[in-house]
Amino acid sequence: MGTAKRQPWVVGVSGASGTPYAASVIRGLLAAGEAVDLVVSRAARLTILDETGISFRDAHWRTDLAAWLAVDESGLEDVRYWPAGDFAAGPSSGSYPAKGMLVVPATTGAVAGIALGLSKDLLQRVASVTLKERRPLVVCVRETPLNGVTLKHLVELDAQGAVVLPASPGFYAGGSTVRELVDFVAGRVLDAVGVPHSLYLRWEGELGAAARRSDAGGAGSAEGE
Ligand SMILES: Cc1cc2nc3c(=O)[nH]c(=O)nc-3n(C[C@H](O)[C@H](O)[C@H](O)COP(=O)(O)O)c2cc1C
Repeated sequence: MGTAKRQPWVVGVSGASGTPYAASVIRGLLAAGEAVDLVVSRAARLTILDETGISFRDAHWRTDLAAWLAVDESGLEDVRYWPAGDFAAGPSSGSYPAKGMLVVPATTGAVAGIALGLSKDLLQRVASVTLKERRPLVVCVRETPLNGVTLKHLVELDAQGAVVLPASPGFYAGGSTVRELVDFVAGRVLDAVGVPHSLYLRWEGELGAAARRSDAGGAGSAEGE
């Protein structure tokens, strides 16, 4: 980052299934040289534990995050962590120089709280701040099916300027592994805020390309994994 002012993206992880989406987004941001401020809701600790076996601890967040992302701790220098109950955290103020916020994955509870401006925890507070400061907010909702009240909340978020981006992988990129489908969604999240990446292969107007890529062994990614 040099001497330039640090301007992070806030990544809010709420307690929906889909913690691999968050891991891929964080890896993608760091690979693009972006700084990350991380907020993990209380419920997200349950989904992280359930989906990865990792107990995410405030006091040992760097170790736990490294294990979760499957990266070395030295690769997390540009990550700052804020406990979900810390309403005095930097990003809870509009004067904090955040670029915007990505809520990945977003629960229907987080969708409701953000749409209604509840600010019941730091994640929801930062999302409200992001909207009031007219900064980019991406809400990667994960639930199916959706009930009527969540649909109304999603329309409200759209009206307030947020990008509603369902965790809904497309298959036209030729992804044949879970990792490739996860990276597709993460790549679309990064697309929404203009962060460059090569997490999925883009549509190039050629029908049948997805099947040929799958036959050739997958879609591939920038990370080469
Ligand atoms: C294992 C597990 C999976 C869950 N998956 C979802 C989900 O996919 N979508 C959702 O909206 N809520 C899901 N929930 C419920 C939320 O965690 C719960 O509503 C919680 O209050 C959300 O809080 P948060 O928005 O502060 O993270 C899940 C809970 C658990 C324990």
